[in-house]
Amino acid sequence: MSRSIIITGGAGFIGSHVVRRFVTKYPHYRIINVDKLTYAGNLENIKDIEQAPNYVFEHADICDEERMNEIFSQYKVDGVIHLAAESHVDRSITDPLIFVKTNLIGTANLLHIARKHWSGNFDGKKFHHVSTDEVFGSLEMDYGYFTEETAYDPRSPYSASKAGSDHLVKAFYHTYHMPVVLTNCSNNYGPNHFPEKLIPLMINNIIHMRPLPVYGKGENVRDWLHVKDHARAIDLVFHEGKAGETYNVGGHNEWKNIDLVFFLCDLMDEKLGREQGTSKGLITYVTDRAGHDLRYAIDAGKIEKELGWTPDYTFEQGLSETADWYLSNQEWLDHVTSGEYRKYYEEMYK
Ligand code: NAD
Ligand code: DAU
Repeated sequence: MSRSIIITGGAGFIGSHVVRRFVTKYPHYRIINVDKLTYAGNLENIKDIEQAPNYVFEHADICDEERMNEIFSQYKVDGVIHLAAESHVDRSITDPLIFVKTNLIGTANLLHIARKHWSGNFDGKKFHHVSTDEVFGSLEMDYGYFTEETAYDPRSPYSASKAGSDHLVKAFYHTYHMPVVLTNCSNNYGPNHFPEKLIPLMINNIIHMRPLPVYGKGENVRDWLHVKDHARAIDLVFHEGKAGETYNVGGHNEWKNIDLVFFLCDLMDEKLGREQGTSKGLITYVTDRAGHDLRYAIDAGKIEKELGWTPDYTFEQGLSETADWYLSNQEWLDHVTSGEYRKYYEEMYK
């Protein structure tokens, strides 16, 4: 094997797409998926590649110094792509401490262990931190984009914990010259998205004719990107990104939540053979999220100019394929909503 790369959070939504891409595209790399399997970790997401000879799963917590040390020693790790995190804003409002623990302390622990193992020889090493556009705060409704120069202004416990982790990664570059790269990405969508997040939640509820909870008036804006376009950007930045640099990743694809939900309702009615307007009748306006950021929008000019990345998917194509994926993978959805997916690890690995 020419490289040993840890991908943290590889059983989660985005991580599973990154793991699959690296395992299949780089058979000469050993890919070590390090995941604690929280409620968001689901090994069913990657069961198609778990027998690949260049893939290993390590059930571990990134906050565990001893285990991380062992894993770095055992595999002689020379690259890290760090996705493991608590990722859901609503959960950070009710339970902020686990976000600080995993996102901040977990990242600090990984940086510390990587530095210890790589110290004195950073040749051929790379630490890629996968972060979010939410660290930049909230934009006005009608103007402005987040660039790599936008000042940090996180406003939820989730985004504050991610902002702190970004600062730690940059500090390891400035202080120790560790070769780090960062990507700050907008909202992802696609297969294997946990159905607590807007798009899969709406799809699941439409399938089961349940209410569709829209926060506030549904006026908030998000910039949506297909998860495979994000995985491709991560691949590019991990290999070609310049040490110490940040790259913003986004779809130039802004939607008001309510317009997106209307669009999804029509799409799903068509796919389910229901009369148009059926799903829209399920929309329920509910109490707004506390501190709800109004608008996110990414200027992805730097990654486009410097590394030649632009999204492949149009939203219409991506959303239609995503809806099809959920409709033909209802077992995946049922396992997640019933908790059945938690048994997979016990059955396959114990
Ligand atoms: P996710 O919640 O689907 O998956 C997170 C994964 O991390 C899970 O497999 C979970 O088991 C694992 N994990 C959590 N705590 C851990 C710990 N202490 N040790 C080891 N593993 C742990 O998240 P996601 O949506 O795939 O996001 C992945 C990363 O991308 C996160 O860092 C997130 O901040 C970032 N991000 C997400 C989006 C998005 O739209 N989802 C956009 C931009 C950036
Ligand atoms: O911008 C990147 C971020 O996108 C990532 O860093 C986060 O990990 C990811 O969870 C996502 O955060 P959001 O808070 O934007 O995603 P969520 O799917 O939770 O919500 C999208 C929008 O939809 C947001 O404005 C809140 C609204 N919403 C959400 C849910 C779950 C609703 O109106 N109803 C809902 O039931």
